[in-house]
Amino acid sequence: GKVCLAYSGGLDTSCILKWLINDQGYNVVCFLADVGQEEDWDQVCAKAKKLGASKMIITDLRKEFVEDLCFRAIQCNAQYEGRYLLGTSLARPVIARAQMKVAQEEGCQFVSHGCTGKGNDQCRFELAFLAIDPKIEIIAPWRIPQFFERFQGRNDLLDYAAKMGIPVTSTKAKPYSMDDNIAHCSYESGQLEDPSKPPPPDMWTRTNDPTTGPHTPQDVTVQFEKGIPVKVSFEGKDYTDSLELFIALNEVGKLHGIGRIDIVENRYVGIKSRGCYDSPAMTILRAAHLDLEGLVMDGKVRSLRDQFVTHSWSEILYNGLYFSPEREFVENSLLFSQQRVNGEVRLQCYRGNVFTVGRSSDTEKLYSEEESSMDSLENFSPVDTTGFININAIRLKKYGLQKLESGES
Ligand code: ARG
Ligand code: SIN
Repeated sequence: GKVCLAYSGGLDTSCILKWLINDQGYNVVCFLADVGQEEDWDQVCAKAKKLGASKMIITDLRKEFVEDLCFRAIQCNAQYEGRYLLGTSLARPVIARAQMKVAQEEGCQFVSHGCTGKGNDQCRFELAFLAIDPKIEIIAPWRIPQFFERFQGRNDLLDYAAKMGIPVTSTKAKPYSMDDNIAHCSYESGQLEDPSKPPPPDMWTRTNDPTTGPHTPQDVTVQFEKGIPVKVSFEGKDYTDSLELFIALNEVGKLHGIGRIDIVENRYVGIKSRGCYDSPAMTILRAAHLDLEGLVMDGKVRSLRDQFVTHSWSEILYNGLYFSPEREFVENSLLFSQQRVNGEVRLQCYRGNVFTVGRSSDTEKLYSEEESSMDSLENFSPVDTTGFININAIRLKKYGLQKLESGES
């Protein structure tokens, strides 16, 4: 049989690769997605070949990731449990889709990955694989007794690596597990498992320490069309390419230490887990987008979108249900809600914070200085408001009276 394995070059997937070939007798095609992570691509390629992979395919998915997933998340103000900007969750559908394409092109009946049996990622990948090709067969070694009973910990993997001639870059165990991409880097497990202890200060890779950031705030302007960032300007330079503007914002955000969080979250599988995340560009864009919506979006549409779209879409993505009818359903109303989210927001980045200092729109006219002014009554009848309040009070008066009569406070 032929397997397409999601291969990272790390210890786990290197042992899985060797195990699939030597112990299970598969022909293995390795696949690695470039979603903007820090990586020595040539080294991963050489290692896969050395370990016996019949092919090593690397696909640059950065633009697709930014445009199809990160920008959709920005349009949605997506956030899981009020904090997490979903960096890993957003990357999974793009990676899974590309891996399935490789599997199809290479004639693989099987796909495989190195996700642990307790996490979200296994659900995300496998739900995507099955939605894309219902006939695909999945090999999840960390859920196969033959595999996980043999490799009970890192030491077993290291022993196997030594025996099989698998080069190990660092024998010292990483003190936590990381998932890096252009949207964020995540840090979990290992020494982070005690949620009462702060993470080590040298852990963060996508942000500098906000307390030691520059003394002067940095001005950044973000322009949106239909809720999508189309132009970013700072220090006299404009960025209009999606990937370039995203990378530029990551650099600004890194310098000013923007977008670090340290949380305990609820995984789809029901387990609580402590995770740290740094997402500079996503944090800046989310702040800008939220602010622009205040200026240009209808209030009732906004309220409904907040209630029914933001939460649902975020949870759907977190739970790995991207390739589902509910995601398409919710996204349709999201896109409708964004039709008039056009304009620009001026921000200041300073020591872990993003402040809005101004917003404007050339095309959207819902906001009127005249109308909101405290000094003008043009086109507004204050007498009408008396009736508005009286009618709204009918219900509340009855409720208040009932409470008074029954002696409740
Ligand atoms: N807890 C985060 C999430 O579920 C991050 C997962 C990181 N994954 C990893 N394989 N290290 O989205
Ligand atoms: C993993 O399983 O590889 C990491 C944790 C997660 O997916 O939530």
